[in-house]
Amino acid sequence: MSDTATLSRLFASIDADLDLVEHTFQQQASSGLEILNSAAAYAVATPGKRLRMALALLSGRLIDYHLDKLLPLSVALEMVHLATLVHDDIIDNATTRRGMATVNAHYGDGVAILLGDYLFAKTAGLIADVEDFRIDRLFSETVALVCEGTIIELLSAHKLDLSLDTYLERISRKTACLMAACCRGSAIVCGGTDAQVALLEQYGQNLGMAFQILDDILDYTASEEAIGKPAGNDLRQGLVTLPLIYALQAPDANGHMERVSRALKAPNAHADDINGIVQWVKSGPGIAEAFALAGHYAARARAALAEFSDSPERAVLEELVDFVVARSR
Ligand code: IPE
Ligand code: IPE
Ligand code: MG
Ligand code: MG
Repeated sequence: MSDTATLSRLFASIDADLDLVEHTFQQQASSGLEILNSAAAYAVATPGKRLRMALALLSGRLIDYHLDKLLPLSVALEMVHLATLVHDDIIDNATTRRGMATVNAHYGDGVAILLGDYLFAKTAGLIADVEDFRIDRLFSETVALVCEGTIIELLSAHKLDLSLDTYLERISRKTACLMAACCRGSAIVCGGTDAQVALLEQYGQNLGMAFQILDDILDYTASEEAIGKPAGNDLRQGLVTLPLIYALQAPDANGHMERVSRALKAPNAHADDINGIVQWVKSGPGIAEAFALAGHYAARARAALAEFSDSPERAVLEELVDFVVARSR
């Protein structure tokens, strides 16, 4: 089954509410100013996997589903995700996302910066609509963490010696904390106990770690057609990610250090050099070891769910863990 088909099957029980979230998202992303409106419509034309909004809705189903609160919360969280992607593509000089030209490639960096800011501004209004100070705080802390994660990534670019701990810290902040916030925020607004809030946060955090590790694996193993963005991109941007960290730790890695270091430092490394390193990483233990660590986080995500009573929504959240570690896009 394709990833798209798997997700539509998994999200079937929340389909109508996902459409409502999506509709509200599109309304909120619009602007009376033609250029912003056009850039926003362009950015939302291909919606992505809608994972963050789905996580918020499904988590609520494990507690006491309050759509009036979940609606602005889900829209805000998915919108923060989009805003960070729009800004990330400027920082990364990326030209393709979701199978289309990026906002920066299509409209230029200036409009892309302001569209990201505009979306962030809109999220503040949506969070106000939730009318819960705990969510204000969660939201502020989460966006701050994502900024920190992105800065850690920026600072670690072009350097060979990235420790596993720094890598994990980086992906925890830039990716996992937003998924954790989707689940935690949902549990809070649905009146969960402290224990339920903490468990759902653990679920989202561990799911997010596995998710980003897969994103980094797919950058080595997938085709541009599959992931909607160019493969080998991390290396081209001078970024060391988990498969390369493990490849460089392997006993035969010594002969390759110099070559990898050179490619990471070169602003426009030659395609053959990048491909050579990608092939070397794929032929060694790095990919399998990265899968194993993703599996470890996946198991932790499943363990957090085990504390909830059995329900169709819990089963969906469990299957979402399987999806995240098996996905091909
Ligand atoms: C992309 O996230 C950015 C990462 C955190 C790796 P997604 O892969 O969820 O992006 P969309 O929303 O489906 O495009
Ligand atoms: C996504 O991370 C950026 C943020 C979470 C802010 P990546 O840089 O790994 O995502 P892609 O590969 O560009 O989608
Ligand atoms: Mg990026
Ligand atoms: Mg990536």
